[in-house]
Amino acid sequence: MSRNEEYGDLLQQLDAERLPQHIAIIMDGNGRWATRRNLPRTMGHKAGAESLRRATEICREIGVKVLTVYAFSTENWQRPQDEVDFLMKLFAEYLRREIKTMNDNQVRLHILGETAPLPPAVQRELAAALSATAHNDRMILNIAVNYGGRREIAFAMRQMAEAVARGDLSPQDIDEAAVDGFLFTAGQPQPDLLIRPAGELRLSNFLLWQAAYSEFYFSDILWPDFGKRDLLTAVLAYQKRQRRFGKI
Ligand code: FPP
Repeated sequence: MSRNEEYGDLLQQLDAERLPQHIAIIMDGNGRWATRRNLPRTMGHKAGAESLRRATEICREIGVKVLTVYAFSTENWQRPQDEVDFLMKLFAEYLRREIKTMNDNQVRLHILGETAPLPPAVQRELAAALSATAHNDRMILNIAVNYGGRREIAFAMRQMAEAVARGDLSPQDIDEAAVDGFLFTAGQPQPDLLIRPAGELRLSNFLLWQAAYSEFYFSDILWPDFGKRDLLTAVLAYQKRQRRFGKI
């Protein structure tokens, strides 16, 4: 998808009153995108990073408050070492290169996942990007890296148990809001719209707790090809849905 694609016609159709506050995306299909072009899989990830840049831009433009992307799962360590190394390097480069744009656009970076097992160079770039963007307040970009939804919930449980043991939390006070407060997304709105490109119809351990009432949007388009028009098309589809949250 071209970087300069026109999308004014789709912008005009948006209902500003019914924008999703939080969009979550499983950035899938990078490997297939590259393989179809006889390129190494890593080139698909590089193109995927460009696609993430476009998605952040369009979300910021239409006024989405939180964009969450799944960049690296707890299971992705099992990929070939050179692919893992490439992804880590790409991640570090992305952080370094994007700080200025994030600051220009008032985007605050936040990480979902455990960062301690990441390579030291990535941790350094992460710390720099987190502190450089900490004051931004127009939008949050959550990058899920070394993230697993079940593990996130297990961690929350462990932290709650520790808080109970210390006497800081009473078991009677453990309700849904309390659990929310122990997740990586504490304080953020729940994802309204969850987009999965590249044809797979599953959640893959992403935001298991937070996606309880998310509207799902699936597309066959591979992530590197998923452009601003595709994201706006997903938002327009979301705006046609009736969200009932279990009521009638
Ligand atoms: C899944 O596609 C994608 C990933 C495991 C990596 C996602 C990473 C990026 C989009 C790179 C940019 C991210 C940052 C934060 C710089 P796949 O490789 O499983 O694709 P396939 O199913 O076609 O093999």
